[in-house]
Amino acid sequence: MRSSPEPEALAPGRRWEAQIPADRRKRLGQWLTPWWAVEAVTAEALRGLGPNPVILDPACGDGRWLLAAGRLRPDATLLGWDIDADALTAAAEVAQLAGLTFQLSQRDALVGDEQGVADVILGNPPYVRPQNLPAADRARIWARYKSATDKADLYAPFMERMIQLSRGRVALVVADTWLSMVSFAALRDIVFAEPVDLLARLPAGSFGARVGTVALVIHPDSQARRGELGPEGLVVHGPLTRSGGVVTLGAAPAIDLPGDGVLGDRWRLRMGVVCGDYAHWVHPGPPEPGDQPTCRGKDVARFVIHDQGERIRYDAAAILKRTPYAAPKHAGLFDVPEKVVLSGASGALLRAAVDTARRFPLDSCYVSEGAGDPWALCGLLNSAPVNLWYGARFTGARVKAVELHGLPWPAGELSKLAEAARAGDQAGVDAEAARAYGL
Ligand SMILES: C[S@@+](CC[C@H](N)C(=O)[O-])C[C@H]1O[C@@H](n2cnc3c(N)ncnc32)[C@H](O)[C@@H]1O
Repeated sequence: MRSSPEPEALAPGRRWEAQIPADRRKRLGQWLTPWWAVEAVTAEALRGLGPNPVILDPACGDGRWLLAAGRLRPDATLLGWDIDADALTAAAEVAQLAGLTFQLSQRDALVGDEQGVADVILGNPPYVRPQNLPAADRARIWARYKSATDKADLYAPFMERMIQLSRGRVALVVADTWLSMVSFAALRDIVFAEPVDLLARLPAGSFGARVGTVALVIHPDSQARRGELGPEGLVVHGPLTRSGGVVTLGAAPAIDLPGDGVLGDRWRLRMGVVCGDYAHWVHPGPPEPGDQPTCRGKDVARFVIHDQGERIRYDAAAILKRTPYAAPKHAGLFDVPEKVVLSGASGALLRAAVDTARRFPLDSCYVSEGAGDPWALCGLLNSAPVNLWYGARFTGARVKAVELHGLPWPAGELSKLAEAARAGDQAGVDAEAARAYGL
């Protein structure tokens, strides 16, 4: 189904959007959803809905989701909440121009204990990084919502709240980071405990915000579909599956690897030091007491780390005191004779090397923890079969540990693969990895 052009009734919304001050936009996550997405996702959510439904957008902005719902279901009661009075003024004008009735309230949707207030919850939750929230709000929200963990975005508790508010149907467009990042593991568990009907990727650049986005529909008659949604309509690629806790969203994967369990059964990939204030902790000069050698993602090539002579003052307690959301890991993770350091972009090229200099790598690197030969792991991560497997499934900007934990582990013997990796022999690594997988 090709979508219809944006209705003229949304003109007040575009006027409102044009005058949002930059700081308010950032604080309240004010990005308007493209009309084609609103229309298509709303239609999916309303499929088979009984008479006189109650439909709520708890972050309604200019009310575009309510407009789409009201056009499809004139018998619906349309409720709109937003924290911003200017948004509600725009929504009221939209309703008037469209000849619809919106019941609008200025309120913070994350406050309140009501459950199941509407048959359908629609919308696009605010994207706000925790460090951009006022400290008191962050503390309150992070204490109350299970999905508000680590560096999860505000949209995580908002999605949790949308599920609480619904009587079975939730449909939204949201950033895609929750599908793979460690900080969103609790949100993934909450969402996938529901009957997920559709998860579809939107084209890059669908929003002013530079984030990848997906549409999610929870529906009692779930068809568990994955696909892509664009202005031309929805393309379903197949059933929705989760492997190792991570969802695969691409078209048919190019390569399946036979495995004996998964990488995550044997190794964990942990983030390097996340200190939040690199200029303070990292320096290029001569070593000072307490310094450790470090490296960055860009220094990691296949099989070697290009040392830039940088050092980090690793003091977990002091780092945490200065930057409460920092995540220093225990020093033992880094301070070992040999470990794999991994970097790279999803969908492009994984770059792994074995570190023998007891480096404390920075956060865009991952560091291996586990029992086994790190040279075999290094070879595997650099190998062609693994890169084909990985690239066909994951297309985010950066490699993510949680994705690689689901990599099938080869059943074959790995000593020759480790040897080829020690020699920095890419062709040998590719051949030995293919042999170990029995390809
Ligand atoms: C991503 S915009 C979505 C607007 C509109 N629903 C759309 O899809 O185009 C998020 C909206 O959430 C509102 N918002 C932010 N924090 C909120 C909160 N705690 N409670 C209710 N609304 C909130 C913002 O003012 C903004 O209008």
